[in-house]
Amino acid sequence: MSKVNLLLGLQWGDEGKGKIVDVLTKQHDIIARFQGGPNAGHTLVFNGQKHVLHTIPSGIFHDKAMNFVGNGVVIDPVIFKNELDHLAKHQIDFPSKLCISRGAHLILPTHRLLDAASETAKGKAKIGSTLKGIGPTYMDKTGRNGLRIGDLELPDWKERYQKLTQKHLKMLSNYTIKIDFNLEELETAFFEGLKLLQTIPFVDGVFYMQNAIDKNQKVLAEGAQGSLLDIDFGTYPFVTSSTTTAAGACTGLGIAPNQIGEVYGIMKAYTTRVGSGPFPTELFDEDGKRMAEVGKEFGATTGRPRRCGWLDLVALKHAVQLNGVTQLAMMKGDVLSGFNTIKACTSYLYKGKEISHFPYSINEEDIKPIYTEFTGWQEDITEITSVAEIPKVLKEYIAFIENYVGVPINIVSVGPDRKQTIIL
Ligand code: GDP
Ligand code: IMO
Ligand code: MG
Repeated sequence: MSKVNLLLGLQWGDEGKGKIVDVLTKQHDIIARFQGGPNAGHTLVFNGQKHVLHTIPSGIFHDKAMNFVGNGVVIDPVIFKNELDHLAKHQIDFPSKLCISRGAHLILPTHRLLDAASETAKGKAKIGSTLKGIGPTYMDKTGRNGLRIGDLELPDWKERYQKLTQKHLKMLSNYTIKIDFNLEELETAFFEGLKLLQTIPFVDGVFYMQNAIDKNQKVLAEGAQGSLLDIDFGTYPFVTSSTTTAAGACTGLGIAPNQIGEVYGIMKAYTTRVGSGPFPTELFDEDGKRMAEVGKEFGATTGRPRRCGWLDLVALKHAVQLNGVTQLAMMKGDVLSGFNTIKACTSYLYKGKEISHFPYSINEEDIKPIYTEFTGWQEDITEITSVAEIPKVLKEYIAFIENYVGVPINIVSVGPDRKQTIIL
């Protein structure tokens, strides 16, 4: 029996998960998404072309691999259709390359409206949601009201849809803030999307996964978002509504903890965050601007500028421990080329005391980062292909990180392209 390998983001998302899934797909038979939904934007670059995936697992461009969407994922048929339409030129035979667990929940048009109403009502305290209806859909899931992919096969599915939609409309009318919408238009797009969605095989997810494991198939579970956006362990309430950490792979796919093998933790050489919420190492100076410009730090889903700052090793260690990370991939070291000094936060001054763990809350007023400084590397590293070519000072930065978090960095990414990847 084979083990399921797991790949997760260790910061606030957008670490470069899509790229590394694409790189590792050739060693796997099935790529499986286990949580999140179209709030994710995973970028893959190869043959001079860039692709952004939201719902579809990042193994879709490989001939051999199957792509599985697990029960922990929430699916918007409208975005799903857009995604497939965008990929039309690649002539991918989706019904034979993709399948969906009957347990995955559906994002209804009114879930998106509720997301918008909730965010508007919060005013300054808004989460900075991607407004894809993620929060309201997971609320209906845990509230035991949600609609699942398998429900589409039931004779009374339409009535269930109407009932939930009516409930949502009542909830919307309770907000003093009014959201403009045309339900008829939204529903037309929704039912169009559903038609396409229903051409993809629906499977009993636990059986699908356990059967694959029994048959010794190699599965790579692809995380979305990042550990610091986890509903329990992230910077609550500025988080997403799913379990983005390793435990989410068990509940979102139907696998047991002892069926997990390698855990690949994906991290940027610095830190970014999109949306609201605390970010102790955030930079508001020229260094931060430079990271944003050189790193092209704009959200792959919403296009919003990403906030940038130095690497936070306290937060990274928290994520490594939570996930049982066995090896790290360090992304975007190329973006830091040319900095004279590089900094990494190695402890916090928290309510006047120095601590080196990630506390209950990291509110700006309570916390100040304490930095360790490093000499920067001046070389352009985007063309390097071997370990021997990695600048000495970058090797020292890598060694420091490995030593701090206790896990090796086995993959160094030096550019967005599939080929710009060094396996150590
Ligand atoms: P994901 O959500 O974790 O899959 O990451 P995103 O795709 O949202 O954001 C990562 C961005 O960085 C994308 O634009 C990638 O093409 C790009 N990228 C990935 N790895 C590297 C790298 O090593 N260097 C540079 N310069 N860009 C990278
Ligand atoms: P990938 O998979 C970065 C952030 C949003 C917001 C918060 C809640 O591409 O790494 P939500 O729409 O889930 O209600 O938003 O989480 N967020 C992400 N940030 N990358 C993502 O996904 C994200 N998905 C959600 O910006 O702050
Ligand atoms: Mg992303």
